[in-house]
Amino acid sequence: MANIVRNRFLGGFLGLIAMAGCSTAGQDGDDGPCPAWQICFPSEDSADGQSPTWDPVGESSSETGAHDTGESGEPEPMPPSSGLPCEVRDALAAACGDCHSAAPSFGAPMPLASYADLQVPAPTDPTRKVYDVVAERLVAEVKPMPPDGDMSEDQRTVLLDWIAAGAPEAPNADCDEPEDGEDVDPVGPDALPCDPEFVIRAHAPGSDQPFVVPVEGAEDLYQCFAFKSPFTEPTQAIAWAPIIDDERVIHHWILYRSKQPQTDGAVFPCDLSLQLQADFVAGWAPGGGNVMMPPSVGLELGGPDDFYIMQVHYHNSAHYADAVDASGVAFCVPDQPEPQTAGVLTLGTTSLNIPAGAQNHTEVGTCGGLSTFFWPELHIIGASPHMHELGRAMKTILTRPGGVTETIIDKPFNFESQGMYFNDQEIVVHAGESLQTTCTYDNPGASMVNFGEGTGDEMCFNFVLAYPIDQLGSRNCGIVF
Ligand code: HEC
Repeated sequence: MANIVRNRFLGGFLGLIAMAGCSTAGQDGDDGPCPAWQICFPSEDSADGQSPTWDPVGESSSETGAHDTGESGEPEPMPPSSGLPCEVRDALAAACGDCHSAAPSFGAPMPLASYADLQVPAPTDPTRKVYDVVAERLVAEVKPMPPDGDMSEDQRTVLLDWIAAGAPEAPNADCDEPEDGEDVDPVGPDALPCDPEFVIRAHAPGSDQPFVVPVEGAEDLYQCFAFKSPFTEPTQAIAWAPIIDDERVIHHWILYRSKQPQTDGAVFPCDLSLQLQADFVAGWAPGGGNVMMPPSVGLELGGPDDFYIMQVHYHNSAHYADAVDASGVAFCVPDQPEPQTAGVLTLGTTSLNIPAGAQNHTEVGTCGGLSTFFWPELHIIGASPHMHELGRAMKTILTRPGGVTETIIDKPFNFESQGMYFNDQEIVVHAGESLQTTCTYDNPGASMVNFGEGTGDEMCFNFVLAYPIDQLGSRNCGIVF
């Protein structure tokens, strides 16, 4: 679907949006320390009246941030001649280079930057060459590469044709300097046009030290970090930025809000049913950028009786021994609440019967009579699909009177790469229109799979970010619990 984010996953919400109401109260030096495991929030009695401060990790760019290990640092630009034919090198750089760069990041297990990189044994199957596994994953329905399927047919064809020809070396390829990525907006708190006052970061249990990512057994580590709300009244955010610290091992994170009491500073293995008792607040996956709410809209952050749980998915498949991480998120809070509040509306269905052995099995949830109280329209800004391991794809289609349809989201699904997709343009839903969410599954197992909280059960939820959320009678539509 064309108009969902230019960035992968969490794209920056349109550069066009003005930062109305953004606090600019800060002074120039705004990089003071913030206890990493606590939520940083301005204290009223701050002695010198300085703006709240925090310690940005990774500066402003997602290109940096690996801890100083002396070896990795910034991913190296690909050399002009890599032994690959130029168009192959360019296709790999454009579609895979975010993760499979010379120094792989975001959990990718190997580089795809040179001829030699493609000739070595594949990390998960040493009996095969990397290029062979590449060909397979380029067309895989299950866990395709790139994970969100966003790559041009031309690029895919270039790679498949080259591999079909035996992946020949082009030792003397005289390629142009690789293009310096299209205009990617800078990512991180420094790139926000406001001072973030509310910061949440990964940390060691009860400590302000970064979280130590285990060397072994962290191929798929879902680590949860709990925080108590620092707010004394219902509070909104007008913008937020991901803080991406050790990008070698972080795969994605999701911040949830819950009414269930949590111990501030606690670190524990995540319960994957979290999203049933907690609301999605924000999420990041590779390619995701800073997010700004539209003018006059504030993202619902929470109030005094809320708790936050940040779920971070670590993927230390390279077994880095020095992986420590303080990734997180920094929110800008408006001086005055914005008139409109954006929050999460859940679409989908809990009625799931996925037969044993089924392929491309679909389940549909229909949200028909969406009605708002005083506001005639609901504006959809973004969407975050949630299924479990059998989920392959999700789409949500809006049907207007006369049968005209609009796509809210239509994406492959990969349990290990979840974030929120932002629409390039808001999609406006009126009373009487319907939203149909279709979840697609493969069930290789020998028994029927139904809805449930366990990893072996399935889900079909699309967490849609919409405003005005407080004008809705219910935050679920079409779902029977
Ligand atoms: C957003 C980050 C990201 C992008 C972009 C990406 N990958 Fe991956 N890739 C990963 C991660 C994480 C893994 C490990 C988990 C898995 O296998 O799904 C992986 C694994 C793989 C594997 C499996 C290696 C093995 O031994 O099993 C192949 C092959 C692969 N990627 C090829 C590609 C190709 C080709 C592209 C571009 C067309 C690409 N990837 C784009 C993140 C990415």
